[in-house]
Amino acid sequence: MKAATAVAGTNIALVKYWGKRDEVLNLPATGSLSLTLDRLGTRTRVAFDGGDGTHDRVTLDGAPASEKVATRVTRFLDRVRARAGIAARATVVTDNSVPTASGLASSASGFAALALAATGAAGLALAPTELSVLARLGSGSAARSIFGGFVEMAPGTRADGSDAAAHPLDAGAGWDASASWNVRLIVAITATGEKALGSTAAMRRTAETSPYYDAWVRGVDGDLAAARAAIAARDLEALGAVAERSALRMHASAMAADPPILYWNPATIAAMARVRALRVEGASAFFTIDAGPHVKVLCDAREAEAVAAALAETPGVLRTLIASPGLGARLEESA
Ligand code: PMV
Repeated sequence: MKAATAVAGTNIALVKYWGKRDEVLNLPATGSLSLTLDRLGTRTRVAFDGGDGTHDRVTLDGAPASEKVATRVTRFLDRVRARAGIAARATVVTDNSVPTASGLASSASGFAALALAATGAAGLALAPTELSVLARLGSGSAARSIFGGFVEMAPGTRADGSDAAAHPLDAGAGWDASASWNVRLIVAITATGEKALGSTAAMRRTAETSPYYDAWVRGVDGDLAAARAAIAARDLEALGAVAERSALRMHASAMAADPPILYWNPATIAAMARVRALRVEGASAFFTIDAGPHVKVLCDAREAEAVAAALAETPGVLRTLIASPGLGARLEESA
């Protein structure tokens, strides 16, 4: 029996991915750029041991996975089985390090860890770029969690998606020894429970009905160029400005869909206002928001505790977490 265990950190996009050029292959309409985190992630063990005899056996955070999750895992494992020429069902045990019911359980770290553990267990040694392509088939953002630090996702041009993969931008970027470029990502949790509308359905509705979707797509390349330049120059202010505008443009395109998609709650807006007020007071802190109501704040490591404390006392913020830049997905020694 072959088994492997992998860990992966989630990632937060600073230039968002919002729209697909192919829904079956999960091909993004544009590039995106993210930071992989250390604390929030997934550990997954895969063993091709026959599963329960007829199905894959999937355990998520200590309990049998829902049918929806199990189906998504099986569909992903089928690709790995086809590639490795094996038929055996599997046992998959996966644990998220994000607090339960925080609404932050991540498909990004989940499919990155699953891609690495499943291919490891199947005896396939894939290069990181191939792993990124494989992880993308599970979830678009998972392609980026194969790598650590700042990562850029290329949309690719090929119909088969073989060039739609992520790559690390700058080994070590985000955690230089020089204290001038040492960033943190603070998560301000503003609600419990599942998000209202999943990202695939929301992207589809935005692309099909939002008059702002084309404008959103047209703006991404410029944001990517600005973000790349900011990272190369270790310029947190410039990177933060891109992150805020990319997030607001993404949400603006979704809000203009029909029916409208609005992920924010009052605490989301209060947290954004708090971040802007902190900047007026001299802090280097910048927000971004994904397909949910939580606010993620990129800031200088030296200011992280103070920024987190300010967010924690913002009305409606339930709790905060401070994460550092993290490594890419990796196999663990003991299978
Ligand atoms: O990977 P998905 O399909 O869950 O989409 C992620 C979409 C956003 O988180 C909103 C943006 C991003 O680039 O991660």
